[in-house]
Amino acid sequence: MPDYRRRTAREAMSVRLDVNGLMGEAIGAAGVGREEVDALAPRVSEVGRVLKARRSAGELPFYELPYEKDAVARVRALAAEVRGECDTLVVLGIGGSALGTRAIISALGPTAPRIIVADHVDPWSFGAVLDGLDLKRTTFNVISKSGETIETMAQFLIVRDLLLRSLGAVDYTKRVIITTDADQGALRQIVYDEGFRDLALPAGLSGRFSVLSSVGLLPAAVAGIKIDEMLAGAAWIDVRCQEADIWKNPGHLLGALLYLADTRHQQNILVMMPYSDRLTGFAAWFAQLWAESLAKAETLDGYPAFVGQTPLVAVGAKGQHSLLQLLMEGPVDKVVGMLRVEDHGRELPIASAYADLDSLGYLGGTGLGALLNRQQRATELSLLKGQRPVFTLALPQLNAFTLGQLFYLFEVAVVFAGGLYRVDPFNQPGIEVSKRLTYALMGRKGFDEARAEVDALLAAKRPEYIV
Ligand code: PA5
Repeated sequence: MPDYRRRTAREAMSVRLDVNGLMGEAIGAAGVGREEVDALAPRVSEVGRVLKARRSAGELPFYELPYEKDAVARVRALAAEVRGECDTLVVLGIGGSALGTRAIISALGPTAPRIIVADHVDPWSFGAVLDGLDLKRTTFNVISKSGETIETMAQFLIVRDLLLRSLGAVDYTKRVIITTDADQGALRQIVYDEGFRDLALPAGLSGRFSVLSSVGLLPAAVAGIKIDEMLAGAAWIDVRCQEADIWKNPGHLLGALLYLADTRHQQNILVMMPYSDRLTGFAAWFAQLWAESLAKAETLDGYPAFVGQTPLVAVGAKGQHSLLQLLMEGPVDKVVGMLRVEDHGRELPIASAYADLDSLGYLGGTGLGALLNRQQRATELSLLKGQRPVFTLALPQLNAFTLGQLFYLFEVAVVFAGGLYRVDPFNQPGIEVSKRLTYALMGRKGFDEARAEVDALLAAKRPEYIV
């Protein structure tokens, strides 16, 4: 096992960002010019200075998550209890309260106990999850920062009723752990009233920046994942992301180049392409982070913004057989971000046969991992050759240390890009309307005005357009 206290071990397991394919030298007019980066230097310094000051003032808690020793000790102790009590941990949560855990488990699992992330209110999928559980050997981790998200609360009410009926009023509380805000919200009140075990989330931590808090760490620790190594990875890239020189700072460089690609080159779609099935959960986590953090109608000072790149996910070699045609020959409005794992930790040798057939014979004696990585390289180079923007993040291996780096790197990059766009990356005002209208449709008290809006919007639909 590498000892990440040693710098050589950290260096050897560093995630490397290659931005050649974003630059004009490689892809001509579609690329960012060196002079564009130079011209942005004053803004880069200003954003860096503001973020540093806000971090020092304790306003941006996600930066400090790799160093929260007390919170990690509490997670570890609770995880040890839970590991002895259950075979399955079911996470009830949605958005930022679920996607990070799914990313961790899909990258580093399968695990025992098994972790199920139930992040939807589809009665079929959630019903199927519940049908398959032994309730006496299952723990539910209800995760909601606000403590009142409609989907999570609906799931919680169903589970609570099921547990009460199956286990009785005394034992059911032992099957639920609540992760929520330290002081506010309905779930916090419920913890006080009913005595569930709980974990508290720091004030000011948005869901999509919470994967390295108890939100992601408890399920990971229950699963037996080395959370210390994940946090050490995040701390390591934090050091690299504090470099003043942008060309040595992977987080700021990525944020700045993607901002320039979007705002100066109209590349407003960002396709995340992991060449590893185990990183599909990470790509989904990234898509939420990029979309919710940057897409804003207003700048911080109240001017119209309407900015944000649209994230898409296309998985490795499979994506070559669906989206690659579009990426190569469609509009030059996309940046492709590739995730490459040098050592997959497992190789499946390809057997030698049909030596006389040129179209098959060359495959024998190699392996699937080698094939996958060469496909990544070939696709990256074909994008370069076609003058299409592409960057690559290479992971020496996919493990807790490198995954921690990836999470933290993209969080730093998106916050830095948010500074350049002059938007608030930590809010999501655009989703409030839908929440209000849902409450109205569900008959929640105090939403009569929203109910009237729903009725007016439905009445305005023209029947001739419904065929
Ligand atoms: O990133 C965010 O803040 C959101 O995606 C939230 O995580 C999501 O809406 C769930 O919110 P909560 O944790 O309050 O239930």
